[in-house]
Amino acid sequence: MAPPKRRPLIVANWKMNGLRRDGLDRARALVARASAAPSLGCDIVLCPPATLLIETRGALDGSQIALGAQDCHAAAQGAFTGDLSAPMLADAGCRYVIVGHSERRAGHGEQDTAVAAKAAAAAAAGLVPIVCVGERREERDTGRALGVIEAQVRASVPKALAGPLVVAYEPVWAIGSGRTPSRDEIHAVHALIHHVLDDHFSGGSGTVRVLYGGSVGARNAQEILAVEGVQGALVGGASLSVEDFWAICAAAGRLDAAA
Ligand code: PGA
Repeated sequence: MAPPKRRPLIVANWKMNGLRRDGLDRARALVARASAAPSLGCDIVLCPPATLLIETRGALDGSQIALGAQDCHAAAQGAFTGDLSAPMLADAGCRYVIVGHSERRAGHGEQDTAVAAKAAAAAAAGLVPIVCVGERREERDTGRALGVIEAQVRASVPKALAGPLVVAYEPVWAIGSGRTPSRDEIHAVHALIHHVLDDHFSGGSGTVRVLYGGSVGARNAQEILAVEGVQGALVGGASLSVEDFWAICAAAGRLDAAA
């Protein structure tokens, strides 16, 4: 059965980019575009670096664009130098938080169990976790992508959560590389993720939005977002350009309007 059509979700992951001036200018420009648009047709989230959360929240106030963070700790508070907890992020005005991004899995040694604990902590604090999964190049080349992703979903997504959930399929080799899987490959992974969520997640896949991420840009957004089972995009590099990110949001909104 085809996954249900959902209002697309477009998430900007600014990563470790931007000083206050750049970030706020970008957020304000996006708010101006969103408020000038007759109807958005998609949900939009900005995930700036932690230093910009509070001021970005101010810039987004009263707009239809929500605030998100790029990571959280699994504990609510304590002696964890340099970390931020989910309740702190909620307190700063966040509604979403990315967990298990491949740059954190690779650069900070995060394992699936830690990612699941972060997702649970996020939901307990009232945030929507965006759980990232994705295969490495050699895993795809050796025909293991689907098995790897199924295992990651089962181990990184808690069986039950207090609130909504987002899962992002981000092939590690597609992130920042300008390369993307084919439409058929994206379709196969999204169908698998929906299927696994139906079996694994208490809310079933109908309550989850499954995004694609990895070299999404203004040029390929429409094509990728039109793939069955793709319910939005997690955008890195292209989200640093107001023009490009807005083009991606517009592509998502048009598809939603056409549905
Ligand atoms: P990219 O990054 O769009 O620059 O490939 C996506 C991500 O890492 O979330």
